[in-house]
Amino acid sequence: MEQTLVLIKPDAVERGLVGRIITRFEDKNLQIAALKQLQLSRKMAEKHYKEHREKPFYGKLIAHITSGPVIAMIVRGPEAVKTVRCLIGDTAGTIPGTIRGDWADSVTYNLVHGSDSPESAAREMNLFFPKMEL
Ligand code: RTP
Ligand code: MG
Repeated sequence: MEQTLVLIKPDAVERGLVGRIITRFEDKNLQIAALKQLQLSRKMAEKHYKEHREKPFYGKLIAHITSGPVIAMIVRGPEAVKTVRCLIGDTAGTIPGTIRGDWADSVTYNLVHGSDSPESAAREMNLFFPKMEL
């Protein structure tokens, strides 16, 4: 079974969408292998999104992800990385039937993060759940 990291971002927590977002993953028969709420420090946010350091949207991205509590989860199932990314939808939230497509406000306030590859998943799970045996 594959595992991936999901973050429910501060906009989703503030809007009260946590339960409905988790239900989307559970409805697809993915398992929640770990879950916690935390406030990201700037340092942690910069580590998590390090590949975007030079992008024009980087400042906005870090400001948003550190603006309030996030829910971090390890989600487990067959092809979990790909399946989670499909359920989340595209970055801009243009695909109806996906989490972002149905509920996202904008590209910045797009509710959820999912690791983009098994390699990213391993790095990000270790960053958020360093003491877990993965
Ligand atoms: P994520 O990493 O959060 O799961 O999102 P993603 O893979 O769909 O998109 P990515 O390219 O990794 O971008 C990370 C986050 O940066 C924000 N973003 N803003 N043009 C823009 O203003 C822009 N482009 C990306 C989004 O919040 C995106 O989720
Ligand atoms: Mg990404």
